[in-house]
Amino acid sequence: MTLWLGDTVPLVYLCSDDTLAGRRADRFEVIRFRERFRPPSGSFRPSNCGIGWLLLRIGWLVSRTGWSDVALTLDRASIVPLYRQLYEGLREQILTGALPEGTRLPPERALADRLAVNRSTVVRAYRDLAADGILDQRVGSGSRVALAPNAGPDRSAAVPWWVTLPPWRVGEFPTVLGELAAVDHGERIAFVQGVPPAEPSPLADLAASFARVGGNDAYVLTYGDSEGYRPLRDAIAARMRARGCTTDARDVLVLTGSTQGITLVAQSLAEPGDEIIVEAPTYPGALQIFQIAGLRAIPVPVDDGGLRVDHVEAILRTRRPRFIYTMPALHNPTGVTLDRDRRERLVALARRAGVPIVEDDPYGELAEDAGPPLVARSPDDVIYLSSFSKTIAPSLRLGWLCAPRTIYERLLLRKQSIDMASSMIVQASVHDYVATVYDAHLAALRGELRERRAIAFAAIDEHWPAAVRAVRSGGGYYVWGTARDHRARALLDACERTGASFLFGEPFFAQGGGDYHFRLALTPVARAHIAEGIRRIGTALRA
Ligand SMILES: Cc1ncc(COP(=O)(O)O)c(C=O)c1O
Repeated sequence: MTLWLGDTVPLVYLCSDDTLAGRRADRFEVIRFRERFRPPSGSFRPSNCGIGWLLLRIGWLVSRTGWSDVALTLDRASIVPLYRQLYEGLREQILTGALPEGTRLPPERALADRLAVNRSTVVRAYRDLAADGILDQRVGSGSRVALAPNAGPDRSAAVPWWVTLPPWRVGEFPTVLGELAAVDHGERIAFVQGVPPAEPSPLADLAASFARVGGNDAYVLTYGDSEGYRPLRDAIAARMRARGCTTDARDVLVLTGSTQGITLVAQSLAEPGDEIIVEAPTYPGALQIFQIAGLRAIPVPVDDGGLRVDHVEAILRTRRPRFIYTMPALHNPTGVTLDRDRRERLVALARRAGVPIVEDDPYGELAEDAGPPLVARSPDDVIYLSSFSKTIAPSLRLGWLCAPRTIYERLLLRKQSIDMASSMIVQASVHDYVATVYDAHLAALRGELRERRAIAFAAIDEHWPAAVRAVRSGGGYYVWGTARDHRARALLDACERTGASFLFGEPFFAQGGGDYHFRLALTPVARAHIAEGIRRIGTALRA
């Protein structure tokens, strides 16, 4: 395997042998790579990789005015001629957009000197790029990247197919979903993933539900309806009605995780370039989805009373975003719950402005007294999302949305195009679980979360400096901290040495910020380790 690593984070590719596999490494893979091949000095040097690794390193310092600083280390042992390696390397960077149109490449002689090759090697590579129409060579003004508008990349068989794909600037997107899904934190007490606690365990009852359902071919040898398994939709609708909603089973669309619902909403309610309102901070997985959908997020702060609805009001006076994405109950990452009067105001505002609300509520049933969800107040203007990931188990990949009839069909068709239907055996098993033990499990889980928070805040009081703020007003899985004297990334580095980890704040903000914030998930660690983990963070905070 070969790793291409640019001087800037986005320029990272995973390759197998000499053949580019064409997949950019996500940040977590790079971190793992770095940890695995970290040289003794602690500073990462690609050239220090193990024997048998071929490293072809390309770094750019792109400038549209001066010529770009191109550093290429060519493989002299390869049977591929040097001019061809240079040509391929430059071509790939141009076609993937890493070297944008208008970028000046270094003069031939300068690049030849830097690479210690004959000038003719560079001349030939540049000439071939010019022949492809992607380099403009003019006497006196050097060589510039020239992708003719609409020309598109050459799709002849000679060009690897993945190089010709539509533009996809992966490096611009956060890779948080992948990082959140990663589990290996070694020996650290890792307050990282928002997964349910090991106790109370749903495992035995869940296994019994699966066993009851698994022998029935009606649940196994079938796709089931795209809308979802009807008895499960009935059960979900009944639970929503018990929380004050008017939901009918026909309003419920079963999802393969509520992440799917966020994607459906992002694609169905807005187009690339459209504005939406999000909370600041908010769930980074949603930000990743919105960013990939090309939506422009307008951040609105959250305080101890939840979303600052007065800010929403000010924005709606002059702008018409496509939707407002909000978590009114046990907000991720702050844990706060939206005040009752703000709920009324938000719903009224949105209705008046003609802007729908996307209510993301995976934690709602864990709240002690959140009151009815927003969708209860305005079923025609709220698209409601929820999930069994936080209340039973994330590996079920089972969630649901409730949407007004005006939008339901659109969402359904998109879902069909993604996965046809959510897993029938999982739906039927969860239906069985919900019908038998779910309420008892929820009650036990609420009690567990209460206890974990009590342990956490007692340890925070004991071990953290008074200047560090931790939001206490909420509940649920998370504690949101602010340490004005510590950049959270540096704090995380220090904590990893003391044996604890958490998520730093930046990914939770759409437009930057969050440098001094961090989130602890209290649920993925053993209850007995919470106080010790918080003490270790305290040690780093006091250092
Ligand atoms: C607010 C919020 N929405 C959605 C999700 C994703 O849920 P699911 O596992 O159902 O895709 C999460 C997971 O952390 C979350 O916190």
